[in-house]
Amino acid sequence: MTAAPTDIPRLVSELTLEEKASLCSGSDFWHTQAVERLGIPAIMVADGPHGLRKQAEEMDHLGVARSVPATCFPSAAGLGSTWDPDLMARVGEALGRETRANGVSVLLGPGVNMKRSPLCGRNFEYFSEDPLLAGVLATALVRGIQSQGVGASLKHFAANNQETDRLRVDAQVDERTLREIYLPAFERVVKGAKPWTVMCAYNKVNGTHASEHHWLLTEVLRDEWGFEGLVVSDWGAVDDRVAGVAAGLDLEMPSSHGLNDARIVAAVRAGELDEADLDAAATRVLTLVARALAAQAEPATFDAAAHHALAREVATRTAVLLKNDGALPLPTDAAGTVVIGEMARTPRYQGAGSSQVNPTRLESALDALRERAPEVEFAPGYVLAEAAGQPGQDRTDEELRAEAVDLARGRTAVLFLGLPAIDESEGYDREHMDLPASHVALLRAVRAVAAKVVVVLSNGSAVTVADWEPDADAVLELWLGGQAGGAAAAQLLLGEVDPSGRLAESIPVRLADVPAQLNFPGERGSVRYGEGLFIGYRGLDAVGAEVSHPFGYGLTYTTFAYADLSVDAAEVTDETGDDDVVVRVTARVTNAGDRTGVAVPQLYVGRPDSAFARAPRELRGFERIELTPGESRVVEFGLTRRDLSHWDVGVHGWVVEPGAVEIAVGENSRDLPLRAVVDVVAPVVHLPLHDHSTVGEWLEHPVGGPLLREALGGFAALLGPDAEPAFAAFLVSLPVVKLPAMVPGSVSPEQLDGLLAEVAG
Ligand code: BGC
Repeated sequence: MTAAPTDIPRLVSELTLEEKASLCSGSDFWHTQAVERLGIPAIMVADGPHGLRKQAEEMDHLGVARSVPATCFPSAAGLGSTWDPDLMARVGEALGRETRANGVSVLLGPGVNMKRSPLCGRNFEYFSEDPLLAGVLATALVRGIQSQGVGASLKHFAANNQETDRLRVDAQVDERTLREIYLPAFERVVKGAKPWTVMCAYNKVNGTHASEHHWLLTEVLRDEWGFEGLVVSDWGAVDDRVAGVAAGLDLEMPSSHGLNDARIVAAVRAGELDEADLDAAATRVLTLVARALAAQAEPATFDAAAHHALAREVATRTAVLLKNDGALPLPTDAAGTVVIGEMARTPRYQGAGSSQVNPTRLESALDALRERAPEVEFAPGYVLAEAAGQPGQDRTDEELRAEAVDLARGRTAVLFLGLPAIDESEGYDREHMDLPASHVALLRAVRAVAAKVVVVLSNGSAVTVADWEPDADAVLELWLGGQAGGAAAAQLLLGEVDPSGRLAESIPVRLADVPAQLNFPGERGSVRYGEGLFIGYRGLDAVGAEVSHPFGYGLTYTTFAYADLSVDAAEVTDETGDDDVVVRVTARVTNAGDRTGVAVPQLYVGRPDSAFARAPRELRGFERIELTPGESRVVEFGLTRRDLSHWDVGVHGWVVEPGAVEIAVGENSRDLPLRAVVDVVAPVVHLPLHDHSTVGEWLEHPVGGPLLREALGGFAALLGPDAEPAFAAFLVSLPVVKLPAMVPGSVSPEQLDGLLAEVAG
């Protein structure tokens, strides 16, 4: 096809009904359908998200068959911990380059679903429990990918927050929670990066399959957010294809082997599907194909060594230093250090499932440490299924532990612990969030004999640390560090690079502290998001739970001081646009230590006197800044109207509630030394009055208030300053329709009818 996008209407008009229907599903696992008669070629898509998984011959959507070599970057759990959109843009560019070089037109990622429960098996593929952080990082990543002339696929839209029953589970989420928690990351990326495609989720949302959800795929995504790209199904997410076309699902993947194409044709012929909907879908497929052609004509090359180096740099920034009682950094020559734990030799560096990349190289931490200090001794410490065949892996946990204890005696033991591959994967959820018992037993045994113990963790989503962290002098969380994660770990341990990651997910003391667990993973095909807005730190803060490490937390090898908060608020008026800055905040951050380091000042907003359910604080701004010793910088945040809004279910829109706004700036969600309260002036939103509006609601209403007061006559005194409090409370909460009967003499039914007519008019 040589068609420019402008020729597409003509092309669509030349297609037969059957050809149009055929364009709406794949030709195989990874390709769209070609129409040779009109010179329309097929294009290829491939996973994603943190590396290209292009399968050559055997095909599947679960990463079972091998794919072409590609750079495996840290997965999104780690990328989230960088809090660094500039770095995400560079990762995106590299991903885009590899995608283009391999003749693939769309990389299937990133995923911006929220980490509702720490147990979601796919949390390693998602950025955060916070929509702002996930949205900002994914926007930069998508821009980077698409800067290379290939597309991204923002997934999995929407409310795909568990793997249990994922192909059919009905996520029951209330409107406000959807708008404030589960949709904003998608919205930000759609508006800010214009992804070529969005991938709908497998699950149902409030009773309707995401793949045939008109409200999600058309009303919200296109009409409200202005999405102009193509919606593709997750692989096998289609239930009723005809309903999907009508709802705005353009492309079904993989191929339905003609089955659904025939159904589409039949539905159009029977008048059950508007052909205009089919034309719209075909148009979007052709637009995607047209966009992809330029890159296909000129496939790029990529420098595998440079991308490996980038993967290493990224991995140094994804790691989060959770604890350090002075054990880190190690001496630069690693003197007196022994390495224990199979994961040092056999890295756990990516998650299982469709995101599984065939890395161009793989560096282990053990090799990287030995490059610098060849004498460093090693013991595997525990049995690890994926390391079968490695020396020592034929022995038992007890035998390996005893050997490790001998090695660690009197030395600094660097222990590589984490989750074995089987513990977390696409397709199923975790059952608990603890380290394997053999890893904890190893730590305790080594602790008893070693001079110092440093724990290095490899896992794709948070593990509890409360039980064992006191036994470690330092803990470094690597997440799944990608193909160069081992080398990055060595650099961080030896202080060649300073840790700078911050937690993008809370580490609770106990899983049971997490409110979402009350409704996870649901039953009988349905899961109720009963905790509402209160996921992650929002929930832990709201119930006042202690945490092991809060959202936003991470140590460095230096310290920072926060000072000079200044807050300046403008008035919100009807003219204030969603993106207009209403509150300006500045704060000074100073490196108070003697090493260069990275601060990540974070701004949280709370609404202490709100009439609406609120988390105590919500992230509304952050920045990553490197400061030399003694250096100080003023950071500036602008809070927009939207930043200050909640989703009001009364008006089905974003509303700024006037009143006190608490501004807090600091190191993390629980260490916010700078605080100020500012009064935000904004128009009060009055819902239309009706007979079941309460006396209180009437009295607050600018039109209804005076009218009711007048009608109440002497009774109004019962609500005045001298009112009897209990009676006044009873009265204000009474729906006005009850007044005539329950408060005889207050207003008559006729007066009430008159009032209702007046406010309606
Ligand atoms: C996953 C998607 C993936 C697709 C193709 C599905 O199982 O949910 O994230 O892109 O397969 O492999």
